[in-house]
Amino acid sequence: MLIKSAEFVTSAARPQQYPPGTLPEFAFAGRSNVGKSSLINTLVSRKKLVLTSSTPGKTRLINFFRVNEAFMFVDLPGYGYARGPETERRQWKPMIEQYLSSRENLMAVVVLLDIRRTPGTEDLQLLGWLDRHEIASVLVVTKSDKLSKSSQARQLELIAGTLRADPDDWVLFSSKSRQGRDALWKRIADLAAAPPEDERA
Ligand code: GTP
Ligand code: MG
Repeated sequence: MLIKSAEFVTSAARPQQYPPGTLPEFAFAGRSNVGKSSLINTLVSRKKLVLTSSTPGKTRLINFFRVNEAFMFVDLPGYGYARGPETERRQWKPMIEQYLSSRENLMAVVVLLDIRRTPGTEDLQLLGWLDRHEIASVLVVTKSDKLSKSSQARQLELIAGTLRADPDDWVLFSSKSRQGRDALWKRIADLAAAPPEDERA
């Protein structure tokens, strides 16, 4: 995908603060520090559109980015970060669930998993929640550059066992090497072009 424009739109905690839902929208979710913000920068080929950090808990609000005047990308705060203020941690779930359940132009949630970790309770809860709410998800296994080819294959099998899902459907990604960038863009563009469920024959 050729990127002509990518710009920050706004940060929001509540629906009244969301921008108008006029473009096909894709949200990026996963544990703190898994690489959501880095992945968005890689997709839009910008080094610093989205702030990233080696300290978990960098993204605290729902951040909206407009890409090519054609897509809205939404960077969500990560879960599983234990050190943030208690009040902020308690607000995370309702903030995210409200967003995910109310956003009518949301096409899919890109769920990121770290190739070095077995999916945890919160990952499984998120995937289950999306399934129950009939929200499409795209699984991305990221930080592939951290492992050798043979370790990658082993880890993918392990993750597949935990999720009981098919790794052939997943995108193996790295923000460092840009592996998987084209494949993920293709999934996003295809989903954006698909007619809504209820208009299908
Ligand atoms: P929160 O905002 O805290 O939820 O984190 P996040 O998921 O947005 O993670 P972020 O993109 O800020 O990245 C966290 C750290 O992982 C940073 O130090 C990144 O440089 C690093 N990182 C992200 N993606 C990759 C990757 O594909 N490969 C490698 N080697 N490092 C990565
Ligand atoms: Mg972030």
